Amino acid sequence: MAAATARRFLLGGAFLSLLTSSYAFYLPGAAPHDYHLGEPVKVFVNTLTPMLTGNEHAKLKSLINYDYYNPRFHFCEPEGGPRSEPESLGSILFGDRIFNSPYNISMLESNMTCQTLCRQQVPADDAKFINERIREDYALNWLVDGLPAAEMKIDLKTNDTFYDMGFNLGNDDIPDTAILHNHYEIVLKYHQPTPDVYRIVGVLIWPTSRGGDQNAELDCIAPEGPPLILDEDSSNTVRYSFRVTWSESDTPWATRWDNYLHIFDPRIHWFSLVNSIVIVIFLCVMVSMILLRTVSRDISRYNNLDVGDDVVQEDWGWKLVHGEVFRTPSNPMLLSVMVGNGSQLCAMVGVTLVFALFGFLSPSNRGSLATVMMICWTLFGGVGGYISSRVYASLGGTEKRKNSFITATLLPTFVFAMVFFLDLFLLTAGSSGAVPFGTFLFVVVLWFGISAPLSAVGSFFGSKHGAITHPVRVNPIPRQIPPTPRYLQPWAATLLAGILPFGAAFVELYFILSSLFASRAYYAFGFLALTAGVVALTTATVSILFTYFVLCAEEYRWHWRAFLAGGGSAVWLFAYGIFFWASRLTLGSFSSVILYMGYLMLLSILQFLITGTIGFLATYWSVRRLYSAIRID
Ligand SMILES: *[C@@H]1O[C@H](CO)[C@@H](O)[C@H](O)[C@H]1NC(C)=O
Ligand SMILES: *[C@@H]1O[C@H](CO)[C@@H](O)[C@H](O)[C@H]1NC(C)=O
Ligand SMILES: *[C@@H]1O[C@H](CO)[C@@H](O)[C@H](O)[C@H]1NC(C)=O
Repeated sequence: MAAATARRFLLGGAFLSLLTSSYAFYLPGAAPHDYHLGEPVKVFVNTLTPMLTGNEHAKLKSLINYDYYNPRFHFCEPEGGPRSEPESLGSILFGDRIFNSPYNISMLESNMTCQTLCRQQVPADDAKFINERIREDYALNWLVDGLPAAEMKIDLKTNDTFYDMGFNLGNDDIPDTAILHNHYEIVLKYHQPTPDVYRIVGVLIWPTSRGGDQNAELDCIAPEGPPLILDEDSSNTVRYSFRVTWSESDTPWATRWDNYLHIFDPRIHWFSLVNSIVIVIFLCVMVSMILLRTVSRDISRYNNLDVGDDVVQEDWGWKLVHGEVFRTPSNPMLLSVMVGNGSQLCAMVGVTLVFALFGFLSPSNRGSLATVMMICWTLFGGVGGYISSRVYASLGGTEKRKNSFITATLLPTFVFAMVFFLDLFLLTAGSSGAVPFGTFLFVVVLWFGISAPLSAVGSFFGSKHGAITHPVRVNPIPRQIPPTPRYLQPWAATLLAGILPFGAAFVELYFILSSLFASRAYYAFGFLALTAGVVALTTATVSILFTYFVLCAEEYRWHWRAFLAGGGSAVWLFAYGIFFWASRLTLGSFSSVILYMGYLMLLSILQFLITGTIGFLATYWSVRRLYSAIRID
């Protein structure tokens, strides 16, 4: 019982399952479909994705998705040709391409009857193409009533059964042969809450290969016989067939996703997370205590100096630079724009996590996570503009309009250019993963039509509120900076300060990267939110601490260093991404490599902006606090 509750929490669906089990109230898209006897049950087909097979040492071999009806696969098509299904923005952006299918299934009808769907001719060229995809472990992704078709597997560590989404196009269990699966045993699990109401609660598929004479009548009862191996030198006939079994289940509709959302070895997951949280919190507490004690001692020492003493007391440490700390840093424009864009991203991530934590992003709403992120990003344009312009004014910048313009356009343009470039690679690889033109246009409208104007409005209010007042004045003549130790240089700030936040997150990072690149579902939002909180806390503490040391060394150019110290974990993220590549991926094609590096780079840059902003703003706040506490003669 406790375990189940804990799991709910980890999955972030606590709120949702509470609602769905206790009250007959459902969120949009989360309402059950009640089927009646004989009602058609539609099967939808999604893109083919490379799959990480259950084996722990398995490696992902490609990153490219293919449309189900890509002509080279020669799957059976529905009458009148495939029709694409309406999808949400996030679902399209994350690569879903959903079409209808020729599978003619009706509720509780034709139980266990063998059906031939169609016979297809596969020419030699395409046979080669299909065999390559089989060797790369491609999987078919079907959807029935919002549920993905899955293969039932057993977690060898716990002996629990779970549903692994997607099922294999073929297998290469026998070395050097690619066996094509052309027969699907479809098991549909239904639940009957009241008489004459049937709900689908599970979709399992056992794909098998039935070779022999493909023009003969299909016999499901007969032993399987030889597998089907496509000949790469001549044309092949392939008979696609299926058999549906209806099986009653006592899983209620509200918990039908539980089987799918299997967490491998949750104990290790918990242990590592708790471990890193404890270490990091301990570190933060220790660091803040040391900092508080030293700083308050410094402050009382500065303030209690008797002016009339014989011994002329010199100022020392950070107090020496009180006339310099608020001097305009180099390139205040770029810094403030980055902080503005970073705040916009921070707001987006924060709100999305809250949504996810309360279970609003039900897995039945495909792509809801990405949709919510896009909408939040758009609506928080005002936050970005406001913070950017206020930071810019506080840093002593004067070109307000330029600042407002750059804040609204820099990041979207950059992300666009990057995604467009990666799209070109996908297109040349014949993949369906490329973002369609219409969607591209829609996103342009969303960003440049809504986000940019909101950002301009934010900038307007930001510049109206103007600069933040500083507790100490800036000296007219800059002080000389003594040589600073190596470990306080900007590059050292980036590398050293980044270790702690990265250390707090790297357990979770493995799961995030797996879900991003190996199309594994990610639903452990409870873990994610905890980790994000710890990372934010660590980033802020580390940047403040680092800046304190910088100021003590009489180096007053702390602004960029604080941002870099905050963003430093992005460098580690990038390095970890390379390690992940080495350990979990064997990318065969050049396009896959470019795609991986491109998305990893994009991810690191966005993370750099987010944590850099946290570091900078936290440091700004504490520097103001620090210098307003001392008495300047
Ligand atoms: C689908 O199945 C129903 C009944 O099982 C049958 O009457 C109908 O003709 C089938 N349609 C096609 C296109 O096979
Ligand atoms: C899982 O099942 C196998 C065979 O039934 C058994 O040998 C093994 O001990 C079981 N493992 C656990 C963790 O229960
Ligand atoms: C379908 O056939 C299987 C196997 O014979 C049986 O277990 C199941 O109860 C049948 N389902 C229905 C709805 O008749």
